[in-house]
Amino acid sequence: MSQMRKRHITRRSFLAAAAAAAAGTTLLNKDLLASAHQVKLFDLRPGPGTARLVTKPPLETPAWTFNGSVPGPEIRVRQGDRLRISVKNELAEETTVHWHGVRTPHAMDGVPDLTQKPIAPGETFVYEFDAVDAGTFWYHPHQRSFEQVGRGLYGPLIIEEPDPVRVDRDVTWVLDDWRLTSTGAISDDFGNPHDMAHAGRIGNTVTINGSIPDQFVVRKGERIRLRLINTANARIFGLDFSDLQVQVVALDGQPVTPHAPEDGAVVLGPAMRADLIIDMTGAAGSRNTVADRFYRGQDYRLIDMVYAPEPLRETVPDWPLDLPANRLAEPDVAAATRHEVAFNGGMMGGMVMQEMGGGTSDPMGSMMDMMHGGGIWFINGVAAQGHMMEPILTLAQGESHVIRMTNMTAWHHPIHLHGHSFRVISRNGAPTRYREWQDTVLMAPREIVEIALVADNPGDWMFHCHILEHQAAGMMGVIRVATS
Ligand code: C2O
Ligand code: CU
Repeated sequence: MSQMRKRHITRRSFLAAAAAAAAGTTLLNKDLLASAHQVKLFDLRPGPGTARLVTKPPLETPAWTFNGSVPGPEIRVRQGDRLRISVKNELAEETTVHWHGVRTPHAMDGVPDLTQKPIAPGETFVYEFDAVDAGTFWYHPHQRSFEQVGRGLYGPLIIEEPDPVRVDRDVTWVLDDWRLTSTGAISDDFGNPHDMAHAGRIGNTVTINGSIPDQFVVRKGERIRLRLINTANARIFGLDFSDLQVQVVALDGQPVTPHAPEDGAVVLGPAMRADLIIDMTGAAGSRNTVADRFYRGQDYRLIDMVYAPEPLRETVPDWPLDLPANRLAEPDVAAATRHEVAFNGGMMGGMVMQEMGGGTSDPMGSMMDMMHGGGIWFINGVAAQGHMMEPILTLAQGESHVIRMTNMTAWHHPIHLHGHSFRVISRNGAPTRYREWQDTVLMAPREIVEIALVADNPGDWMFHCHILEHQAAGMMGVIRVATS
């Protein structure tokens, strides 16, 4: 039996084989069984620690960390492996861990109260799930995320393809944005009303893999797979790689038709990922600047790609770029059940404010009322308080669904659905070019986006904005997937 066949054995056939073995038949190939589901063990300990975000001069910043480091340790497994991750809470408050973008069973999704009891200080919870999709994912708490993630609790989760695309180097850049005080401490104004009602907690210090970047050494002719993960609470990145030829090969872990970034920038809202393949075409000794141009008038140099004196090769390799597709059920858009979702709230949405606030002529006053009630942002008119709530939508399990989402606000929102990937099929009525699979889709102010999916993972799933201050201020709901 070939390697390929072994790796694609399904959970169901694994269970059938195990049952057959238990029944004493001799059908079972032990070697096959072992390679189908290797259990990989990990330990995560969220707790207080320090980070060296600022390196010139070197400063130790008190932070909350997984296993003492920011980002937390990289979890790297093969597609088809089973992960068993023991999380011991060393924080002084409750926590959980969510495996962002991984299609886990409901009980392993790490949402406090909704999928599990939060992990109390000193307690341990063991997560166990299969690495069904290859791709770039990440993990983070879902309890008071705006502060726990904002203080440094996050890490990369990489699931390798059985036959990865050929590159010289596979590199992960975990991007974050911190609000530091003049002494290099994390500003403790988490969840303040201004951040909540505007763009979220935009910081003043951008880091790559936990420190302020300076340069990244490359070699002429080198081909790099660059996995970008935006773990910031609120900052949206728009990375411009200047003269380098960049091909986007995956978004949110799912392969996409390789293409150059639209408008010359790789745009990533909070929680979003992109896998890029970059050929280092500059001359030995030269440099290419990577700039972030997302916010108008606030461009800055993120990092320089600096070429080592020795080239790796003179010409660009012609190796294929296509990643093998994951096994996602294809939605039948023509036959799909259609649903509507509207997002509103926030500052500068006068009309929306009147709708929500009961026609007051004093938008600031009604904003204050809403904030005291805990809600500033609304999905279909409801501001979430906590993770337990009636579903805003119920999707018939196993069927195709199209959700038409309208952003009625003056702000960007990266909208995330748990437990599934969905195709982004249209924006403002125009079909998208690549019908990309995503788990988090960035919506521009007033934009209308349609997504399509097969609701094949049963349970109550969080559906929320990943600007963590918006999420905390109500922009969160539950989508139920159940047999009708
Ligand atoms: Cu990355 Cu609901 O989360
Ligand atoms: Cu938002």
